[in-house]
Amino acid sequence: MLYIIDTADRDEIRRLNEYYPIDGVTTNPTIISKEHSDFLKLVKDIRDIIGPDKMFHIQVTGDTCDEIVKEARLLRTHVGGNLYVKIPISRDGLKATQILKKEGINVTVTAIFTQQQALIAAKAGADFVAPYVNRLDNIVSDGVSVVSEIVELFKKHSISTKVLAASFKTVEQIHKIAMVGAQSVTLQPALYDQLIYHPLTLYAIDDFKADWSNVYGDKSIAMMFEEKDSSVIK
Ligand code: E4P
Repeated sequence: MLYIIDTADRDEIRRLNEYYPIDGVTTNPTIISKEHSDFLKLVKDIRDIIGPDKMFHIQVTGDTCDEIVKEARLLRTHVGGNLYVKIPISRDGLKATQILKKEGINVTVTAIFTQQQALIAAKAGADFVAPYVNRLDNIVSDGVSVVSEIVELFKKHSISTKVLAASFKTVEQIHKIAMVGAQSVTLQPALYDQLIYHPLTLYAIDDFKADWSNVYGDKSIAMMFEEKDSSVIK
């Protein structure tokens, strides 16, 4: 399971990259515009923070095939590393996907809401398709079952395109997506924090601390080894 961070906030990317096992970063024009930053500096900074090997999905803003292809080539030249060009599904987007794949550029086809959109994006050569789980749930559809069917279709038809499930608001949505076999999710930093949180874990840690200090006071394991080492030297 790949966990990708859905933000362009450099401080948050730095924090999550330091503490959590993350596989990359995804952005879209909405996420980028929240930073009110120079776009080129922002994406270069993000690349520097996560390094060249982690995935960086950057969405194009062009509408026509020519615009999309041009932006994708520029992103590859100027951002580089393990880059995925995100393209919203459309007639021009599918044409651009086929051209870019011939040039060896990785493509994530995004804004996917139906199983057939995903299948056609895969046929065009997309490396990932990004179905929007919470936005489907919001319209009383069922994001998890759409993703589940996409996963099943890809398996049935031996398609190597991966599912990058997106647009999450709850831990439950992410858990269910993992259960249906999607290969990856992209989630906001606060939701990643929630994935590892449980109050019983905090109680358990408090109990461990209390029981330890009842017997050993404030001596840590490291202090005990340090004391032993210094007595051997003497
Ligand atoms: C990911 O790349 C998507 O653009 C993003 O997850 C959409 O999330 P939202 O529905 O919260 O805007």
